[in-house]
Amino acid sequence: MRKRPHRRTCTPPLEPAIKAPTPASWAYAETFVPEDDVLARARARADELGCSAIAPGAGAALGVVAAALKARAVVEIGTGTGVSALYLLRGMPVDGVLTTIDVEVENQRAAREAFAEAGIRPNRTRMIPGHALDVLPRLTDSAYDLVLLEAGALDVDEYLEQAVRLLRPGGALAVDNALHRDRVADPAQRDPMTTSIRELGKAVRDHEQLLPALLPTGGGLLLAVKR
Ligand SMILES: C[S@@+](CC[C@H](N)C(=O)[O-])C[C@H]1O[C@@H](n2cnc3c(N)ncnc32)[C@H](O)[C@@H]1O
Repeated sequence: MRKRPHRRTCTPPLEPAIKAPTPASWAYAETFVPEDDVLARARARADELGCSAIAPGAGAALGVVAAALKARAVVEIGTGTGVSALYLLRGMPVDGVLTTIDVEVENQRAAREAFAEAGIRPNRTRMIPGHALDVLPRLTDSAYDLVLLEAGALDVDEYLEQAVRLLRPGGALAVDNALHRDRVADPAQRDPMTTSIRELGKAVRDHEQLLPALLPTGGGLLLAVKR
């Protein structure tokens, strides 16, 4: 039999192996999925209320995860003015319900406005005011397809324990702001917020029930699937 000529099938690796995108590629990726007027207004309300909304690239990634999981039951910790919630709700099936928790009633009022503008039926959102660690223990075990956590809380172990308890096997945990303004990757940054986010990342990475990946989109989107 005639021997086929050997053909190189892989392109040689780029040097160095780990290469950060240029600012142009970063901006291109972050704005790759354009935001509509409803999202833009929700984002503007977030600025007014001093609450930092999820970045567009991370929001789009969340929507993809929600759609891929066909997530019918999602928990969000930190409603803000509803930017991440809009991405989630648009990715979820039309009968999916988002349970979203926030201590700030004013932020949730702004989110409600965004949901109405987006034409989201009121029965698709369950808005719970209160401190997340008071609310989460009341939610049912293994009943959720996706849990979104805003990084920054200091009680890392409790949040992680609650999130894993709520997820069904095959469900996913998402943590926004996991790189915290480039501070998490820098070991010299040891303020309590950065340290707690770094610890949460390690706890997710080392958790025996979680399969993790850290996406450097937006403020850093840590994803993990519950086995
Ligand atoms: C960065 S914002 C959330 C942004 C939102 N996920 C988005 O992308 O539009 C953080 C929110 O978490 C809320 N928050 C902070 N600590 C909380 C807690 N312990 N329990 C519930 N909500 C909390 C704040 O009031 C704020 O609205």
